[in-house]
Amino acid sequence: MPRPEKHVFVCTQSRPAGHPRGSCGEKGCREVWEAFLDEMEQRQLFDKIAITNTGCLGPCSVGANVLVYPEGVMYGKVTAADVAEIFESHLVGDAPVTRLQLPAEVWG
Ligand code: FES
Repeated sequence: MPRPEKHVFVCTQSRPAGHPRGSCGEKGCREVWEAFLDEMEQRQLFDKIAITNTGCLGPCSVGANVLVYPEGVMYGKVTAADVAEIFESHLVGDAPVTRLQLPAEVWG
């Protein structure tokens, strides 16, 4: 397997209803995950881009969250409707989608 140029982690964590942290599961992450899979199928970029579903990435309150490496860009409040733009602008065009980018403090 060639080393991917971009690696996308899509949080697909769910928690029980009423959990104080909430989760991306209650914010549409399943649809986001499926939208990434659909885009990959359409674009056939399997040798350049890796997409992985993952557990909690940290900032649950602003999910659904998506993390892209090697840049370490964290996207928040991502919906399925945003996925094509993330693909075209960031994963293919190397220009992160600033309107969805969480501030650097997310890592603090
Ligand atoms: S549940 Fe998705 S970031 Fe925590």
